[in-house]
Amino acid sequence: MKLNRIEWWAMNNPVRGWWQQRVEVPRLLALGGRCDGATALEIGGGQGLGAQLIQQKFGADQVLSIDLDMTMCRRALRRTASQGQRHIAQADCTQLPLADAQFDALFDFGVLHHVPNWQSAAAEITRVARTGAQLYTMEMYRDFIQHPIWKRVLTHPQTNRFDHQEFIACWQQLGWRLTGQHRLTQGMGWSTFVKT
Ligand SMILES: C[S@@+](CC[C@H](N)C(=O)[O-])C[C@H]1O[C@@H](n2cnc3c(N)ncnc32)[C@H](O)[C@@H]1O
Repeated sequence: MKLNRIEWWAMNNPVRGWWQQRVEVPRLLALGGRCDGATALEIGGGQGLGAQLIQQKFGADQVLSIDLDMTMCRRALRRTASQGQRHIAQADCTQLPLADAQFDALFDFGVLHHVPNWQSAAAEITRVARTGAQLYTMEMYRDFIQHPIWKRVLTHPQTNRFDHQEFIACWQQLGWRLTGQHRLTQGMGWSTFVKT
């Protein structure tokens, strides 16, 4: 599901970049470690900062960043135009046009809570991940999405949402071993995994 105008603005400004760089990336690094030399996939890459950080801070060699929204892809392309080994493409994370088992590191910076059938996306991420791949996630949970204020201001799928434990359990059922977790609030958390 694409972002509404308010969330579009929230995701495309320097404050979002600051939070992603200063809070989310250090937290994910502390939980899951680096992925030096990895071929990485980022789903829902948005404005393109994630792809840059995946290389600069996590140490990935190549990054493919996909987003459902072509307008987001264009913004990311502008940021990435002159950088090698960073690729942007329009795609739906529930139907990845990618071969099996080709990525060493997978990144979800707050995307799956936008996907109505997020379990399909989790299965697709699992399909394209190699054995031993690292998975890094930051997600927003049911308590945030269904909070009366955020429900009014933002547009998210309201059914089939998840909490921290349910999110982790889904990945574990798909064969991922939990390597780290941190729940900031009832509505938001980070988790990292390795594919077994
Ligand atoms: C909340 S934004 C997060 C953007 C970026 N990851 C960040 O942290 O700033 C969610 C992004 O996921 C994208 N998105 C939503 N549904 C998607 C899907 N099914 N497949 C791929 N991207 C999707 C949206 O277009 C949007 O750019």
